[in-house]
Amino acid sequence: MAYQLLKGKTGIITGALDENSIAWKVAEKAHEEGARFVLTNAPIAMRMGEIKKLADKTGSQIIPADATSTEELTHLFTESQQILGGKIDFVLHSIGMSVNIRKKIPYTELNYDYYQKGIDVSALSLHKMLAVAMKLDAINEWGSVVALTYMAAQRTFPFYTDMADIKAMLESISRSFGYHYGVSKKVRINTVSQSPTKTTAGTGIKGFGDFFDYAQSIAPLGNASAEDCANYCITLFSDLTRMVTMQNLFHDGGFSNTGVSDLVMNKIGITE
Ligand SMILES: NC(=O)c1ccc[n+]([C@@H]2O[C@H](COP(=O)([O-])OP(=O)(O)OC[C@H]3O[C@@H](n4cnc5c(N)ncnc54)[C@H](O)[C@@H]3O)[C@@H](O)[C@H]2O)c1
Repeated sequence: MAYQLLKGKTGIITGALDENSIAWKVAEKAHEEGARFVLTNAPIAMRMGEIKKLADKTGSQIIPADATSTEELTHLFTESQQILGGKIDFVLHSIGMSVNIRKKIPYTELNYDYYQKGIDVSALSLHKMLAVAMKLDAINEWGSVVALTYMAAQRTFPFYTDMADIKAMLESISRSFGYHYGVSKKVRINTVSQSPTKTTAGTGIKGFGDFFDYAQSIAPLGNASAEDCANYCITLFSDLTRMVTMQNLFHDGGFSNTGVSDLVMNKIGITE
């Protein structure tokens, strides 16, 4: 059901790789809720045929940009304002990549070049985007920026290796920049800490399938889907959450506040 929560609003949505991507669902929902936006992804990662389908469906234009490049991000924000007819109201940062995870390198043996690449792509890219947007004064007052993160930033999940540290940095950037952008332009910045979700980035993690089932058994509401996550992001882009900023918001069916569930106790054979 659509409520026109984003009627008249414009934005930039990063990270829609294929229809499983969380960003893909956010784009579909934002369109349903009346927003106009530009889609972007890294030129090398972008599957043009796929993203074109989403662009056609949502009446959007695509501007390729590597989120590690300040120059390409400057082009993205400048062009987006031209296409959308002025300053924008929301940005989705949905970018994550760890070569260490891809290559299944354990945490205690991380390759530091890969580690730095992961930091650059998955955390510094948020800082760069915000710095570019601020310099160009590209975001309207009360605009909203949301970046996606995972709870390994707070608690240890061994298979998440360097992405745990990188997400901690992403969340810190969101708080720190949230202060400065809030004071100067009333722009809001939050991170959404999402349940394990079956996407390209998610399923690349060692043991993801088993962990997905475990999280599903712990969370009182079960794992939140990509579509649920998109709905939550829409509320954060809307005016209904105007005073929410600098927060890390758990969107995980209650997983983060559950120690253990009856279901898991039963599964491991501990019953009354
Ligand atoms: N899937 C999960 O279990 C899960 C859980 C919590 C948080 N997240 C986070 O959600 C976000 C989106 O991931 P997803 O699960 O939808 O997977 P996904 O693989 O569909 O999306 C990741 C996106 O990052 C893009 N990207 C990679 N390098 C880039 C670069 N240099 N410049 C621009 N874009 C680049 C990829 O092209 C891709 O579109 C990530 O930040 C991820 O860490 C995912």
